[in-house]
Amino acid sequence: MARHLITSAIPYINGIKHLGNLVGSQLPADLYARYLRGRGHEVLFLCATDEHGTPAELAAAKAGKPVAEYCAEMHAVQAEIARGFRLSFDHFGRSSSPQNHRLTQAFAGRLADAGLIREVSERQMYSRADGRFLPDRYIEGTCPNCGFDSARGDQCDNCTKQLDPTDLINPHSTISGSTDLEIRETKHLYLRQSTLRQQLSDWIDSKTDWPILTTSIARKWLDDGDGLQDRGITRDLDWGIPVRKGDAPWPGMEGKVFYVWFDAPIEYIACAQEWVDAGKGTDWQRWWRTDKGAADVRYTQFMGKDNVPFHTLSFPATILGSGEPWKLVDYIKSFNYLNYDGGQFSTSRGRGVFMDQALEILPADYWRWWLLSHAPENSDSEFTWENFQTSVNKDLADVLGNFVSRITKFCRSKFGETVPEGGQWGPQEQALCDELTTRIRAYEGHMDAIEVRKAAAELRAIWVAGNEYLQSAAPWTSFKTAPETAAMQTRLGLNLIRLYAVLSRAFIPDAAASLMDAMGTGDDGWPGDIEAALTALPAGHAFTVPEVTFRKITDEERQDWQERFAGIRT
Ligand code: 2FM
Ligand code: ZN
Repeated sequence: MARHLITSAIPYINGIKHLGNLVGSQLPADLYARYLRGRGHEVLFLCATDEHGTPAELAAAKAGKPVAEYCAEMHAVQAEIARGFRLSFDHFGRSSSPQNHRLTQAFAGRLADAGLIREVSERQMYSRADGRFLPDRYIEGTCPNCGFDSARGDQCDNCTKQLDPTDLINPHSTISGSTDLEIRETKHLYLRQSTLRQQLSDWIDSKTDWPILTTSIARKWLDDGDGLQDRGITRDLDWGIPVRKGDAPWPGMEGKVFYVWFDAPIEYIACAQEWVDAGKGTDWQRWWRTDKGAADVRYTQFMGKDNVPFHTLSFPATILGSGEPWKLVDYIKSFNYLNYDGGQFSTSRGRGVFMDQALEILPADYWRWWLLSHAPENSDSEFTWENFQTSVNKDLADVLGNFVSRITKFCRSKFGETVPEGGQWGPQEQALCDELTTRIRAYEGHMDAIEVRKAAAELRAIWVAGNEYLQSAAPWTSFKTAPETAAMQTRLGLNLIRLYAVLSRAFIPDAAASLMDAMGTGDDGWPGDIEAALTALPAGHAFTVPEVTFRKITDEERQDWQERFAGIRT
C-alpha cells in the first residue's frame, strides 16, 4: 500500500465551470483518486476554489455583492455541483482561507530572507475618483489602432492588438467611469525566479516519464528568448492576501495584496491544513513535509495545459526558494482543450454546456463516461451531441446496461433471484477468464499510467467480452436441453456484473454502486486472481434485478439539447 497525494487545479470562483474545465482537471483527478483507493492505497485528494484576483472582484461587482460574500456563496455552489458529479475530494477548500493567508505570508517571508525577492518601482494608472490603482482590465478607452471605443487596457477585443493602458485614447475607469486618471509610481515585489533557472531546468530534465505536453511547455518557458523571467507577486487590489513578511508588516507594501497566481498553488498545502482543521484528518504534515513522513508520498497534479507553466516553474520556484522541506510534485498530468460543437467552450462568452446544466439533463455517470473516454490527452478533442448520443447509447446502454438487464432478468425467470447452482466451466468460460485476465492487467497498466482514454477503451472491451460471451453461450438456448449448463453460464454472468461494478467504479460510481447493491454484496476488493473474482458470488446467493442501469438518449432529446445549448448563457 502506497500513499498518494492528488490535487486538481483549483477552479476560479467566478461562476460555474463548463465541461471543458471539468475534463481538464477535476474529473481525471477524481478518476485516479477513486482507482487508487479501489486498489487499497491511502489517498489524499484535494481541491479548492481560487478566490482572488480581478476576475473575482469583477464578478462580485457584476453580481452587486461584496466580494467576500460573493465568494462564500459561489464556493457553496461549486461544492454542491462537485458533489453532483461525485467528485470525491477529501476536502474542497478555499484559497481565501485563514490557513492560506498565513502560509502565503510565511512563504513570502522565507523567500525574502533567502534574498529571492526584490522591490521594483513601476508606473501605473491611478484613479483619483476611485482612490486606487487600476489593473489593466479596469481601464477602457478608444483603441489607437482601430478606433474601437471599448478597448481594454491590456488588449483591444475588436482588432486583438495588445495594448498598454497608456496607449488608449480617452481612458476611463470601468469602476466609476471617471476619466480623472493619472500615472503614479508604485512599488511591487518580484520573485527572482531567474536565479533558480538551472535548478528548475535540471529538475524538469529529470522527469523523463512525464507527458510530453507537460515537459514541452515547461521547456519552452525555460528556453525561450527571455527565459524564466522574474515575476511580480504583488498587486494593487483590495481583495486578496495582504502583503506581509510572515507575521510582520512589510514596509512600503501597505494596502497591497499578493498576486493570485502566487497564493493559488500554496492553497494546495493550506487545503490539507483546512482538511485537518475541519476535523477530517489528523496530520497534514505527513502529506506535505518531507521531514515529517511525506518523502514516501507520491504527489500527482492534474491541470489544463494553460496552467502548466505555473506548476512546472512558478510554484516549484516558491517551494525550492523557501529552502524548506516541502514536497515537490512527482507527476504532472496535463490536458489539451475540449472544444464544443465547432468552436471553443467559453466562460466569458457563455458558450457550451456548464456543469449545473449538464446535471439537469442527465445523471453524472453519463457525462463522466463520455468526458473521460474522450479526454483531450494527445490533442484537443470535441464535444458534439451526436458523438455524445452515440457513445452513451452504445457503450453504456447497449453494452453494459443490456448485459446486466439480460442476465438478471433471464435468471429471475428461470432460476429465481438467487445465483443458480450446478454445471462446470468449459473451454468457453476458461477462454473468457483468460481474456479478462489479460485485459484487466492492461487496464491496470493504463490506469497506473493515467492514460485515461486507453483505460476507458480497455474497460469498454472488458464489457464487450462479457456481452459476446453471453451472446454465444446463450443460456436461454442451453436451458432447453442442458439446464445445468445454463445455470453455470448464468452464475458466471451474475459474477461478471459484480466484477464490472468493481472495475468501473472510478468511471461511473453511481451505476457501480447500484450494481453492487443489486448483486447484494459489499465484496468490492480489487480482482487479483480473475477466476476467483468470477466465482465470488456462490450458488444460492440472493440478488435483485436492478432498475435500468443506463437508458438511451433519443433523437428528439439530442435535437432539443443541441438547440437549447446552441446559444449563449447569460
Ligand atoms: O486556471 C484556473 O482555473 C486557475 N484557477 C487554476 C489555479 S491552479 C493553482 F495553482 F492553484
Ligand atoms: Zn483595436
